[in-house]
Amino acid sequence: MNKIHKSNTWAVPKKTEAPAKKSPQPFNLVRGTRDILPIDQSYWRKLYEEAEGLCDAYGLERIETPVLEETGLFVRGVGKQTEIVEKEMFSFETAGGDNVTMRPEATASICRAYIYHGMWNQPQPVKLWYWSPMFRHERPQSGRYREFWQFGAEILGEEDAVIDAQLALISWRFLKDLGIDASVRINSIGTPECRANYKNALVAYFRPKRNRLSEDDKKKLLKNPMRLLDSKDPAVIEMKAEAPQIVDWLDESSKNHFMRVLEYLDEVGVPYQLDPFLVRGLDYYTKTVFELYDNAEEDVNKNALGGGGRYDGLMEILGGRPTPAAGFGMGIDRIVSRLKSMNIAAPQRKIDVFVAQLGEGGRKKALAMFEELRLAGIKSGEAFAKGSIKTQMEFANRAGARWTIIIGQKEVLDGTAIVRDMDAGTQEIVDARKIVQVLQKKMAQVQPETLPPTELL
Ligand code: HAM
Repeated sequence: MNKIHKSNTWAVPKKTEAPAKKSPQPFNLVRGTRDILPIDQSYWRKLYEEAEGLCDAYGLERIETPVLEETGLFVRGVGKQTEIVEKEMFSFETAGGDNVTMRPEATASICRAYIYHGMWNQPQPVKLWYWSPMFRHERPQSGRYREFWQFGAEILGEEDAVIDAQLALISWRFLKDLGIDASVRINSIGTPECRANYKNALVAYFRPKRNRLSEDDKKKLLKNPMRLLDSKDPAVIEMKAEAPQIVDWLDESSKNHFMRVLEYLDEVGVPYQLDPFLVRGLDYYTKTVFELYDNAEEDVNKNALGGGGRYDGLMEILGGRPTPAAGFGMGIDRIVSRLKSMNIAAPQRKIDVFVAQLGEGGRKKALAMFEELRLAGIKSGEAFAKGSIKTQMEFANRAGARWTIIIGQKEVLDGTAIVRDMDAGTQEIVDARKIVQVLQKKMAQVQPETLPPTELL
């Protein structure tokens, strides 16, 4: 006993500090990604509705392709020697051993879908639009994210210049309707054959000056000399002024095509600037290329709000039959931040009616009434978890309700509801069974005056 006791005494661990309970660390965002919070959703909705309205008007149909595609699609489609494929793809091997990439852009995906679904059997051109997140492992900075959203359009199966002009028009109109005064920078980079000759001319021009180039730009000179024209290095920008221009290497057909694009743009009044050194960072382009910039933004290094062009050879590169095509992609994140910095407001979603309740009986009736109003298409709000009328009135005011319905114990017994006019501060008691008709009548009476003039057009 003694022994046990002894050994027990001996076995009792010395009183040590209980290990501090570690509270779990909160998580950070993955670098280059961000949350789009409720406070910004009105902007995103405004842009989406604008995009959808324009695309409907121009007969484009919505398409959504998967975020994950085979890595080869982008390597072949966007081009091995582009910045995107060389440095920016989120690629990985799946547990099943497939090499996949999170889409860095959607044009290659749309072409894959066109081929996969045999869309050449449909009347041509096939006109598609999308609104999707893209992923590029770029150095995060203002207007440059690793996950960002694009609204884009692709018109497949038509080579006429009118398509290029229409796409430039739609992308410009999108910005204009949002209140951004943008212009289109435009160029033609011709066919791969004209480009081969032009590249030789560029190399011949830059080679004697190569010791003024950075290591990165020296590599570009060797691998993809046209990418030098995108360089932000002031020395290259200075040298570029005297460099050969692609327009002098265009064949007759590319030149005519380009002239027609410009004539159409003149006709519809889209402001454009010819930019002989605009080449774009993706390899699939042929003939027309364009980018959209905000005229009001003063920063010389300002970011493009969108870009696009023709890609007549891409479908074949991806294993499809020859299919001329063109499109554009607009950077939604950048456009939203432009609108915010210009203090352009986006309409908040408002409710017409707030349903307030008092007591358990009132809450039950209010719950059912809310559903009745919702089914009748009346935009309503509620705060059923709150008990105080004062708090509920504050909610109603914040949500911009025009009327508040109040149901308390008395109203439950009488089968009535109080309807309060939030602007006038007056109240009336109505038959609860007729609440929908009463509100619809009131809404029909006041709506034409309360809508701002633009929404009446
Ligand atoms: P892109 O020029 O690479 O073209 O991208 C289009 C737009 O997406 C850019 O002008 C920019 O506004 C936005 N954007 C690009 N990268 C980022 C980023 N890291 N963060 C935020 N916004 C960004 C394309 O993607 C082509 N697929 C466009 C196209 C469609 N060409 C023919 N059809």
